[in-house]
Order: sequence, then structure tokens, then C-alpha cells
Amino acid sequence: MKLMIINGPNLNMLGIREKEIYGTKTYTNISDYIKTEGEKKGHEVKIFQSNVEGEIINFIQQAYFEKFEGIIINPGAFTHYSYAIHDAIKSVNIPTIEVHLSNIHGREDFRKNSVTASACIGSICGFGEQGYILAMDAFSKESEK
Ligand code: DQA
Repeated sequence: MKLMIINGPNLNMLGIREKEIYGTKTYTNISDYIKTEGEKKGHEVKIFQSNVEGEIINFIQQAYFEKFEGIIINPGAFTHYSYAIHDAIKSVNIPTIEVHLSNIHGREDFRKNSVTASACIGSICGFGEQGYILAMDAFSKESEK
């Protein structure tokens, strides 16, 4: 499948930010790992990151115009309040899976609600970078249906 992976704000700071929560691997380590594992599974994988809400919306729209078949998105803190990202996911009609490195349900109350997850076909959280791999496997299983 042709898959777009989109990472939101502060995920470029992985390996530096709150290591006790997000671990010590850098953003480059993690994105290289996702790309390699995705390609081993036969997917075409493009990975983007932005700290800017509008750029994330532009990536989602780009996925539509470039005929991506699935999106895996970690919207970072935008998860909890970006109706614009929710609407963008809804607009493109591309199956989308939300991923979080940490277990957002076991943290502060404001993280427990995702306004973007309801625009997605499913969500995975709490498994670190494995979440992206699990999402790719979920897409493979879905496409067999
Ligand atoms: C996160 C969880 C969010 O609450 C937080 O704002 C992030 C990272 C995660 O992957 O666990 O930036 O999306």
C-alpha cells in the first residue's frame, strides 16, 4: 500500500524531550525504523513531520491528490483540540489510523480525549514506535478483507 505517515508538533524532539515518557531514540532513528519495516512489509512509505497545524492539513490534502491509500497520523498535542485536523481527515476519505507513542489514557486528563480519533478508522497508543508498525499491519489485514 501507498502509506503516508504524519507526525505532529514536538515529535522532532524525540530523544531530547521527556525521555522518561518517550524514550531515548531520536526522531530520525524512529522514522528510519518505520520506513525500513514498512518497506519490508511491501508498503511504499512517505514520512512527514511538522510543528505547524496548517502544514499537517496540507500533508493530509497532499495524500488525497497523490492517491495515498492510507494515512498513519500522530497529531501530537493537536490530538486534543484540533477540529481542523479532524475535518481534514474526514475531507480526504482516506482510511487513517491514529498512533500515539505514550498511553494517552494513563496521563493527564487533557490527553485522555482525542478530537481527531473519531475521524479515523482506529487508534493505537502506548506501544512506542511499535504502534506505527501495528498500524501498518492493521492496514494490510484491512486490505485483505
Ligand atoms: C503524543 C501524546 C500527546 O498527548 C503529546 O502532546 C505528544 C505526543 C504521543 O505520541 O504519545 O506530543 O501524541
